[in-house]
Amino acid sequence: MCGITGYIGYREAYPIVVKGLQRLEYRGYDSAGIMMYDDGNIRVSKTKGKVSDLEVITNSNEDSKKGNIGIGHTRWATHGVPNDVNSHPHTSMSGNLVIVHNGIIENYDTIKKELVSRGYTFESDTDTEVLVNLIEEVKKQEGCKLGKAVQLALTQVIGAYAIAVFDKTKTNEIVVARLGSPIALGIGKDNKEFFVASDASPFIEYTKEAVYLEDEEMAIIKLGKGIKVRKINDDSLVDTKTQELQMSLEQIEKGGYDHFMLKEIHEQPKAILDTYRGRMLADKGIIRMAGIDDNLKKFTNADRIIIVACGTSWHAGLVAEYLFEDIARIPVEVEYASEFRYRNPIITDKDVVIAISQSGETADTLAAIKLAKSKGAFVFGVCNVVGSSIARETHAGAYTHAGPEIGVASTKAFTTQITVLSLMALKLGKEKGKISTPLFHTYLQTLQLIPNKVEELLKIDDQVKYIASVYKDATNCLYLGRGFNFPVALEGALKLKEISYIHAEGYPAAEMKHGPIALIDENMPIFVIATNKGHYEKVVSNIQEIKSRAGKIIAVVTEGDETVKEIADHVIEIPDTEEAFTPLLTTIPLQLLSYHIAVMLGKNVDQPRNLAKSVTVE
Ligand code: AGP
Repeated sequence: MCGITGYIGYREAYPIVVKGLQRLEYRGYDSAGIMMYDDGNIRVSKTKGKVSDLEVITNSNEDSKKGNIGIGHTRWATHGVPNDVNSHPHTSMSGNLVIVHNGIIENYDTIKKELVSRGYTFESDTDTEVLVNLIEEVKKQEGCKLGKAVQLALTQVIGAYAIAVFDKTKTNEIVVARLGSPIALGIGKDNKEFFVASDASPFIEYTKEAVYLEDEEMAIIKLGKGIKVRKINDDSLVDTKTQELQMSLEQIEKGGYDHFMLKEIHEQPKAILDTYRGRMLADKGIIRMAGIDDNLKKFTNADRIIIVACGTSWHAGLVAEYLFEDIARIPVEVEYASEFRYRNPIITDKDVVIAISQSGETADTLAAIKLAKSKGAFVFGVCNVVGSSIARETHAGAYTHAGPEIGVASTKAFTTQITVLSLMALKLGKEKGKISTPLFHTYLQTLQLIPNKVEELLKIDDQVKYIASVYKDATNCLYLGRGFNFPVALEGALKLKEISYIHAEGYPAAEMKHGPIALIDENMPIFVIATNKGHYEKVVSNIQEIKSRAGKIIAVVTEGDETVKEIADHVIEIPDTEEAFTPLLTTIPLQLLSYHIAVMLGKNVDQPRNLAKSVTVE
C-alpha cells in the first residue's frame, strides 16, 4: 500500500513527480524516493520519512532534480522497516533498471535465493529489490527488451503489484504493470508526454485523458508512439479505453482549511446532497438507482444481504443492517471482509453481497467480493472512487459521490455511504411493499433536509472545541450508543484512536454493564449518544449508571432535551430527525471532537502514524 508516480515527456519531471507524491501520501508516508534520469545519468534520492523530508535532500543537490523522466514512490512499509535503504526506488545490481512498486511479492524469498545462487547481492530487505533483479536476470537470460523481461518476470511472481520500471539503456520508455494494486496512466497531447500514478490526482492539471490498467495488464509507454497495453499472461494486446477525468484540482487541495480532515468534515452537507442528487426525487416520491433498478429481482428475491467491508465502511455496514432490516425487512449479516474471506462462509446464489469501500481498493474487501462471486452471489458495490478495483469487480453498484477523501480518517465517506444505503433500504422497502407510502414519503422529505441540518450542526464547532480541550488528556474513553447509533459509537471511538492515539472503545450502551462499567471512574470520559427516538429511556438509565460511578458524561442529544442535560457534564445538541437518519447527524460532533483533540495534542491529523488511506495488502 504505497503510492507511485512517474513522468516521461518534455517538461521538468521533478516538480510533477514530487507534487504527485504529496498527493499520494494518503497511501503511505513511511518513506519517499525519486529517480531522475538526465543525460545518461540515473540519480536516485530517497529517505525514511515524508515527501517533505525527501525535498530537503533533493534541495541540497540541484542535479538530483534534473531531467524529463522521473519515477517516484511514497511508502507504507510491508517488507523491511521504514529506513533509507528500504525506501524506493530500487535499482538492479547493474544499475541499469530502476523500479517503484506498490504491493507485495509473496514468493520473494524463493526468488531471492535463486538470484543469490546466481551471484546477485542485495542492499535492502525488500521484496521490490528482488523483483527488479529478477527482471534484470530475465532480460539477460532471454536477451529481450525491458517490456518482455517485465512480462516474463511477472509470470514467476506470486503477490500483488503496481510497478513502474525504467531502463537506462532504453530511455524513451517506462514499463508499468498491475495486479491487485491500481495504476492510472495520463496521456498528454500528441503522445509527447505521459504520466503514471496510483490514482489520477498527480496529473489532473496536465491532462484529463486517462487509461486505467486492469489486473494482469501491463503497458509499455513510449514517447512519440503512445501506450501499448497487453495481458501479462497470454501476451494478447488489449484495446484500451481512454476515460475523461471528472476530478478537479480544487477538489484535491485544502481550500483554506488547516487539514483535509476538517475540510472533508465541512464538505458533508454538499457530499450528502451530491449522493442523493438525481436519485431521490422527494416531491415525486421516487428513488432511482440504476444499479438496483437493473437488478431489482436479485434484491427483492434475496434470502438475505451480506455486507462485507473494513473499518469505517464496516461501521456504515452496521448502520445498513438496521436500515435494511427495519425498512425493507431483509435479513442482513455484516462481516469484516478480512474474516469472511477466510472462514469458508455459506453463500448461495440467493444471497446479495454488498461490498462497501471508500477507496474501492481495500484488499480484504476485494478478496471477499471474489469469493462471493465464485459462490454465485450477486455482488453490489458501494464505492467512492470511480473506476476503482471494487467498482469494476462488482456486478453492479452505486457510487457515493463524496469527492476525493484525502484525510486518512474517513468522515464524508462514512456519511455518504450511509446516505446511499438509506436510499437503497427505502427503495427496497417500497419495492417489497414493506413500508407504507405515507411513511416512504415522510422518509424522503426527512432525508432531503439532512444536508441543511448537517450545515447547521457544524456551527457547534466552538462548543465541541471547548469539550475537546477539557478531555484531550484522557488516556481512555468510552463511546456508547444503541440501535442505529451503536455503529456511530464504534465509529466515534475509531476516529479518536486513529488520529489522537487515545485508547477508545465503542459499545452498545446496554452492554456496558457486562464488563466495561468496571473501567469507569472520575477520569473516564464517556461519550453517549442519547437522541430522543428509539431507546431513549433505556439510554438515560445507562447514563444514570455511569453518573453513579462518577464517570464524566458527554451526551449527544436531540435539541431541546432537558432530561439528559440535568445529568450529563456536557451536552451537544443535534437537530431532530427520523431515528433511522440520526447517524448522519450524531456522527458529526464526534468527528469534530476527534479532530480537535488530535490538533490540540499536536498529532498529524491527516496522516496518522502507521496508517494509510487505502489498505491494499492483507
Ligand atoms: C477509517 O477512518 C479508516 N480510514 C479505515 O478504517 C477505512 O475505513 C478502512 O481501511 C476501509 O477502507 P475503504 O473504505 O477504503 O475500503
